Amino acid sequence: MCVCFIRLLIMLSVLKLISTRTEFTNFKCDSLDKEFSDFEYCSIKAINRSYKYVTVKVKLFQVPVTKVKVSFGLYKRFSGYRPFLYNVTVDACNFLRNRKSNPITSYFYDFIKDISNMNHTCPFDHDLVMDKLSTELVNHRLTNVLSFPEGDYMVEMHWIAYDITRAVVKLYLSLT
Ligand SMILES: *[C@@H]1O[C@H](CO)[C@@H](O)[C@H](O)[C@H]1NC(C)=O
Ligand SMILES: *[C@@H]1O[C@H](CO)[C@@H](O)[C@H](O)[C@H]1NC(C)=O
Ligand SMILES: *[C@@H]1O[C@H](CO)[C@@H](O)[C@H](O)[C@H]1NC(C)=O
Repeated sequence: MCVCFIRLLIMLSVLKLISTRTEFTNFKCDSLDKEFSDFEYCSIKAINRSYKYVTVKVKLFQVPVTKVKVSFGLYKRFSGYRPFLYNVTVDACNFLRNRKSNPITSYFYDFIKDISNMNHTCPFDHDLVMDKLSTELVNHRLTNVLSFPEGDYMVEMHWIAYDITRAVVKLYLSLT
C-alpha cells in the first residue's frame, strides 16, 4: 500500500498541470438492492455561483450492518472515462478501526470524516448521511494536500455489504 501511495505521489507530481478550481458536474446514486438500502436523496445543490455542494442520504433497511466494503475507482476522461491511478477495495470496518492502516483510503476518507455520520466504527444501525461536500472543501484538499492535474474526473464507489454490491455512486468533477 505504501509503495502504491508513493507511486501515486510521483505520478501526480510528474503531471504538471495543477488545477485550482473544482466543479461538480454530475452525481448519480443507484441502489442495486432496494430491500437492503435506498437513497432518500442524492444531489448537487447550488446555493449561489460560488457555493455548491453534494449531499446524500441512504436509508438502511436491514440494520445493524456489520460487514462493509467499499470499492473506489478513480477515472479520468480522455475519450470516455478511463481508470486513472486508483482502484481499490477496502474493508471499511477494518479501516475504521485502524485508520492508519491505509494511507490512500485515509486521504479520501478525510474528505468526508467531518461531514458524514459514517465516521465511527462498525456496526451501522442508522441511516447514512453525507452533508455538504462542497467544491471549496474538495478544492482545498485536492490542491493543498495532493495536486491533481486538470481535467474531467469520475469517482465511482461500490458499497458492498456482506460481499454483495448494494449501491453504486458516481461523482463527476471537472478540475480547471
Ligand atoms: C454564497 O453562499 C454562501 C453560503 O450561504 C455564503 O457564505 C457566500 O457568502 C455566498 N457567496 C456569494 C458570492 O454570494
Ligand atoms: C475496479 O476495476 C475493476 C476491474 O477493471 C472493475 O470491474 C471495477 O468496476 C472497478 N471498480 C470501481 C469502483 O470502479
Ligand atoms: C463525525 O461527523 C460529525 C458530523 O456529522 C462531526 O460533528 C464529528 O466531529 C465527527 N466525528 C469524528 C470522530 O470525526
